[in-house]
Amino acid sequence: MTAAIQRRLDVPEPQQAEHTELHPELNRAHVRFIGLGKTYNGQQGPVAALHGIDLAIQRGEVFGIIGRSGAGKSSLIRTINRLEQPSTGRVLIDQVDIREFDEDRLVALRRRIGMIFQHFNLMSAKTVWQNVELPLKVAGVPKDKREHKVRELLELVGLQEKHKAYPAQLSGGQKQRVGIARALVHDPAILLCDEATSALDPQTTQSILGLLREINQRLGLTIVLITHEMAVIRDICDRVVVLEHGRIVEQGPVWEVFGNPQHEVSKTLLAPLQHGLPEELQSRLRVQPQSSDDAVVLRLQFTGAAHDEPDLAALFGALGGRVRLLQGGVERIQGHALGQLLLAVTGSSLGAEELRQRAGNWAQQVEVLGYVV
Ligand SMILES: Nc1ncnc2c1ncn2[C@@H]1O[C@H](COP(=O)(O)OP(=O)(O)OP(=O)(O)O)[C@@H](O)[C@H]1O
Ligand SMILES: [Mg+2]
Repeated sequence: MTAAIQRRLDVPEPQQAEHTELHPELNRAHVRFIGLGKTYNGQQGPVAALHGIDLAIQRGEVFGIIGRSGAGKSSLIRTINRLEQPSTGRVLIDQVDIREFDEDRLVALRRRIGMIFQHFNLMSAKTVWQNVELPLKVAGVPKDKREHKVRELLELVGLQEKHKAYPAQLSGGQKQRVGIARALVHDPAILLCDEATSALDPQTTQSILGLLREINQRLGLTIVLITHEMAVIRDICDRVVVLEHGRIVEQGPVWEVFGNPQHEVSKTLLAPLQHGLPEELQSRLRVQPQSSDDAVVLRLQFTGAAHDEPDLAALFGALGGRVRLLQGGVERIQGHALGQLLLAVTGSSLGAEELRQRAGNWAQQVEVLGYVV
């Protein structure tokens, strides 16, 4: 049996009626994974990296992929431009199955899909200009068109002045700008970013994210982004998927997943972004009150279901007594108020359960964490 036939047998043929019966959102999807699986032939035998991935990425969105190391993030993103060939299932780009693409169609596909990497992958012996120009040369684009394009892109990424510099003479952020310019030479419709800001300091990360946002909005590109930095997802992504052991364990709009993560892995990944109880306070916290003077410690969580930040004066008034803010903060993600407040209430006429219920008028989730003297 030839490999091609074998592969056909492994992969369920698409249902004829599928396209007409699909939910309109899926029909509009820019990238779709259907029952996608990937198994590598590792040195110690097969390594199953992805199983049954069903996912749709919409045109023009910034889509984040998170998960622990080895979860399958890079494997997934690399099936979009077929740097990895799926073992089972399908990848559709604009409703077209890319599985059987021959070399020519693959070359065309990869020009429509730019990619940037953690370590920039620049040619060290070539200047900034030459690095950006190279893929155009390879594609046989005439000189005047090349010059026009390179100039336009260096301007977009803010590197006009550096066009004669070599990569070794650039900062990390500048190198990534060259990487971005190079990824855009063929006017791609999709930009894949695998840990594109992981080698950069926080300030440079912000400037690169700003640039990606601008590209997303100005050029209408769909961006698929892998990162270990949750703040990157929060700052730039519209939706996010969480992978664990090659499977999707959670997905949704960023405000929803960040505001109220459901899966243990998501909670762990997002923990650094959420404010926990200060250690000193944790050690003094009691499950039962010692006396009626003890402060009741409440945790109010804002999961983004309401759009407005809480009215603190009204909240404190409703709780009565003396309300101290132990820790907390509320921020806006995609127009939703997210965050938490840790409050200590003393001298209120209300019991802990009543306090919890009252606070529930302002926050989506309220817990009584315990009591401190
Ligand atoms: N070429 C390969 N050959 C064999 N196994 C591989 C290969 N590439 C990846 N794997 C395995 O597949 C699994 C998923 O790897 P992948 O690189 O997709 O993870 P990841 O989520 O991107 O991890 P990281 O966050 O560390 O980059 C891992 O167990 C990895 O060891
Ligand atoms: Mg990876």
